[in-house]
Amino acid sequence: LLPPVITVDGPSGSGKGTICRLLANALGWSLLDSGALYRLTAVAARHHGVSLDDVESLQVMAAHLDVQFLSESADGELKIILEGEEVTQTIRTENVGADASVVAALGPVRQALLQRQRDFAQLPGLIADGRDMGTVVFPEACLKIYLDASAEERASRRYNQLISKGLSASLEDILIDIKSRDDRDMNRTVAPLKPAPNAVILDTTKMTIEEVLEVVLDEAKHKG
Ligand code: C5P
Repeated sequence: LLPPVITVDGPSGSGKGTICRLLANALGWSLLDSGALYRLTAVAARHHGVSLDDVESLQVMAAHLDVQFLSESADGELKIILEGEEVTQTIRTENVGADASVVAALGPVRQALLQRQRDFAQLPGLIADGRDMGTVVFPEACLKIYLDASAEERASRRYNQLISKGLSASLEDILIDIKSRDDRDMNRTVAPLKPAPNAVILDTTKMTIEEVLEVVLDEAKHKG
């Protein structure tokens, strides 16, 4: 029996991360944060002095990522350990995100991470968060969601997130970064960001997290 998978794809800042965490909690399913794997590959490359255009070394790095995802807190936030070192916060910076999207444009790197991602599918089910979950990694998923929001709204969410953590941020810089990341993610040749043909597309620009969660849970009920 194949474990059921719900895929949630969309651009950065669309609310995927939060929605996926809440969904996984609500259903008692496990969670794949596929973006973290690309971020971890980028961080491992920096650690080992591998340049982001050295495709061969990056591929080897991605294939042998020494990483553990530990679920320790009640809210479902995972603690991430790379080569024995905790990197939960480090991998979330804007710089690492930008590096990740460069690394993620490389076909051999994506190939190297494919099976690792599929291995996350275990009973009772999996919530898969990413860019190509519904199109490439889990084409047989029972429900595919595509979350979108205007670039301005996504930038302002990110800005508020950083400010609330007491970090400094520039809304203008974040918007520029989001647009260039969108451009790279949507226009790359391998596994570009786009809705799967049978995806439920939700524009979350004017929706609260609670409203999005309700719609998705409702869809899940109808499919399940
Ligand atoms: O979702 P997150 O912002 O953590 O992803 C970081 C980068 O990793 C994205 O900008 C994208 O380039 C890449 N990514 C991807 N495919 C996925 C998940 C993330 O290409 N399934």
